[in-house]
Amino acid sequence: MSSSQLVFKFLSQKDMIAAGVTDMEHCIDMMDEAFTLLGKGDYVMGGSTRNSHGQRIWFPKEPEFEGMPKGGPDQRFMSLPGYLGGRFKVCGNKWYGSNLNNPKKHGLPRSILTMTLNDAETARPLAIMEANVLSGMRTGAVIGLSARYLARDDSETLGVIAAGPISKFCTTAIVKALPSLKNVVVFDINAEAAKRFCEDLSVKLNIDFSPVTKFEDAVKGQDVITSAISGDHTPLFEDKWLKEGSLLTLPGRANVEDNYLRNAYIVPDSWEMQKTYKIEGLMLPEDERTIPHIQLHNLVDSGEIKESDIQDLGKIAAGLASLDKNSDKKKYFISNGMILQDIAWAMTMYESAVEKGLGQDLVMWDKPYLV
Ligand SMILES: NC(=O)c1ccc[n+]([C@@H]2O[C@H](COP(=O)([O-])OP(=O)(O)OC[C@H]3O[C@@H](n4cnc5c(N)ncnc54)[C@H](O)[C@@H]3O)[C@@H](O)[C@H]2O)c1
Repeated sequence: MSSSQLVFKFLSQKDMIAAGVTDMEHCIDMMDEAFTLLGKGDYVMGGSTRNSHGQRIWFPKEPEFEGMPKGGPDQRFMSLPGYLGGRFKVCGNKWYGSNLNNPKKHGLPRSILTMTLNDAETARPLAIMEANVLSGMRTGAVIGLSARYLARDDSETLGVIAAGPISKFCTTAIVKALPSLKNVVVFDINAEAAKRFCEDLSVKLNIDFSPVTKFEDAVKGQDVITSAISGDHTPLFEDKWLKEGSLLTLPGRANVEDNYLRNAYIVPDSWEMQKTYKIEGLMLPEDERTIPHIQLHNLVDSGEIKESDIQDLGKIAAGLASLDKNSDKKKYFISNGMILQDIAWAMTMYESAVEKGLGQDLVMWDKPYLV
């Protein structure tokens, strides 16, 4: 290969699986490494604050033009760029689209994702890869990591809200992270989906699973609760349902009560990213404004919650903050997802693919047309 030739890898879903993308224990450890770098500050994300979750295409609710997609819940295109340091030192971009009608109308997953990795110095693409499994795995592994750092050591019960693919990844990760768990209850508005979820995961994870018919039955008295519903409903987790010392760990939307926020340990993936969400959200027209965790921002702005009491998971992973996970205080982990997590897992898969000779090598040029 001449030095000016540019070749990169294409990794299909099959290649990614052969490279080890479904190895949850490994993924949780990689998330630990990515969060440690986040906590130390060895990263850059996009946007003017360097802490933007990503850039979203906001389709209008009533498009003027034939064929333009309509805006709505979980209808979006999104690009998440970033740089992760440490031993990774690469840039990456995850690009995805989401359409709630995909499964029923087109037989496709709700969201479809691809990931690109680039050498951070030369910008040379290293790989383009299928990222549905990658992204679901890292989402679940982050929730597993939160259980590792925040759930009581004697946690025995897990309540799962929504029986979709993201919940499957999260449940798998929590079970791997908490060997003390004994049983899992699952609620979904689609009772059949909850039943299938229990049948499938009880075999794969070898612990007791049972479906429940009421939302609060998956919350009351549980040691750990996780929720990943899609669509426009945002469930309210009542403070009185949440057990003392429990962990509510959320990759999806939820409402909690002010009193819960005033008294619980609050651990976001990154408070700086959450603040950027607010800055960017305020730029939107009021009827399209969605700012994740606005209730928490309001309590911080009014001085009821001190910013210094909010502890990022990255700071905890890096040993720069700590909390007593075995205390009776409730714990609230908020995860909106970060490109740094995708980069860490994507780079691990790229290195594995190179070592195992997986994927297709694609030639972008033998000699660049322009230098
Ligand atoms: N934090 C992150 O990093 C991250 C990453 C990926 C996805 N997500 C979020 O996770 C959510 C779920 O993703 P998915 O791919 O599993 O979605 P999905 O649409 O495939 O499945 C969602 C499930 O939720 C159930 N559901 C809908 N409304 C419900 C309600 N009111 N109560 C109980 N169950 C309900 C549906 O029946 C379905 O089984 C999405 O909202 C997505 O934005 C977060």
